[in-house]
Amino acid sequence: MDQLSPLIIDAIIDSMPVGVMVVGPQGRMLLTNATLETTLGLSRDQFQSKGWAELFIHENKNIEFNQIFLDVIRQELVNLTRSVPFERADGEVRRLIVTSSYLKHEGKTHGIVLLIMDVTDKHALNEREKELLLANSQIQSERGESLKNLALSVAHQIRNPIMNIGGFSNLMLKDQALEAGHRDRLATIIDQASRLENIVRGVTDYASLPLLQPQKVQALGLMEAACADLVSASKDLGKHVDIQDKVVDAEVIADPVLLKRALDEILRNALDFSNSDSVNVEATFNSRPDGFLILVTDRGPGMDPDHLPFAFDPFFTTKTRGVGMGLPIAKRIVMEHRGDITLANRPGGGLSARMFIRQGEDGCRLPGPA
Ligand SMILES: Nc1ncnc2c1ncn2[C@@H]1O[C@H](COP(=O)(O)OP(=O)(O)OP(=O)(O)O)[C@@H](O)[C@H]1O
Ligand SMILES: [Mg+2]
Repeated sequence: MDQLSPLIIDAIIDSMPVGVMVVGPQGRMLLTNATLETTLGLSRDQFQSKGWAELFIHENKNIEFNQIFLDVIRQELVNLTRSVPFERADGEVRRLIVTSSYLKHEGKTHGIVLLIMDVTDKHALNEREKELLLANSQIQSERGESLKNLALSVAHQIRNPIMNIGGFSNLMLKDQALEAGHRDRLATIIDQASRLENIVRGVTDYASLPLLQPQKVQALGLMEAACADLVSASKDLGKHVDIQDKVVDAEVIADPVLLKRALDEILRNALDFSNSDSVNVEATFNSRPDGFLILVTDRGPGMDPDHLPFAFDPFFTTKTRGVGMGLPIAKRIVMEHRGDITLANRPGGGLSARMFIRQGEDGCRLPGPA
């Protein structure tokens, strides 16, 4: 290969869009280029007449920038990249990305090389974007909080009149002289008042779900507690539940109270919607590298395929006396754990509910520095 003349090499370095600085072992400037001079606000004469210490170590400023030289020299680092601020002599502060390398060849130190990129405009945009995102998420959470308070106070305001309607209607029903027609109408009023009371309870339940408090949880304990509660609920209903739990114990990060609540809603549905007095439920827990999976399957009637898209909508219910808030509550909890929940009819009958909770960097993790 032909050799490039030193003049051409100088011209190439001078025209590079990044600042180049080579500092010799004694702190003398061996090489600079035009971009570097513009970026740091120093002239070629200044670079040629002064050493590194004289140019940069003064007035106790640009400490982070100077630290790069010290770190590279002391630790003989190669390819160290840092983003640092740099205040020029005219007082303007630029944001630089500095990539630096210690130059050592055949045991001899030749100095250090720095490539300096001025990213001030991009940095300012990023900072602005971060500020906007933060402000936006604050607005969202304030809005969420005020909607929650509104829902709770509406529920509170509705509860008292409904209880009065139900209470007085019950009293009137006790009147022996009441005509049969009126009796029927009163029974309907009582029934509707009790439905409204349940709806209000559902809204209150949903709106007052506490904030997630992730911690280390043993999967086995969580699954066993939920299954034990299902067995006791089945006894109250006079049903028998047969649970097969396939749990590979693992320590996971989750809010144990809320996750159990979500699991309870799913297990409870398997019990509620089974047409038979003997209910078969399979609850599986599996840990995977990116998260964990909880699968609850039953052999009940499954869901009408036309209803499946609405299953997680608030107040969607096919129960005569249901509220339809179980699945919305479960979904909200799972989503707040950075997970997802899906339902599907099973071949051979029954429903399968699948909850997957991501773990780690983009998933549910212990609170702490981001
Ligand atoms: N395991 C299941 N088998 C059959 N249908 C189900 C099952 N789970 C949920 N569904 C259907 O999804 C609907 C919504 O369930 P969701 O838990 O939200 O409300 P609900 O059980 O009806 O009332 P609530 O949970 O508030 O007492 C149910 O009414 C039912 O139609
Ligand atoms: Mg339910």
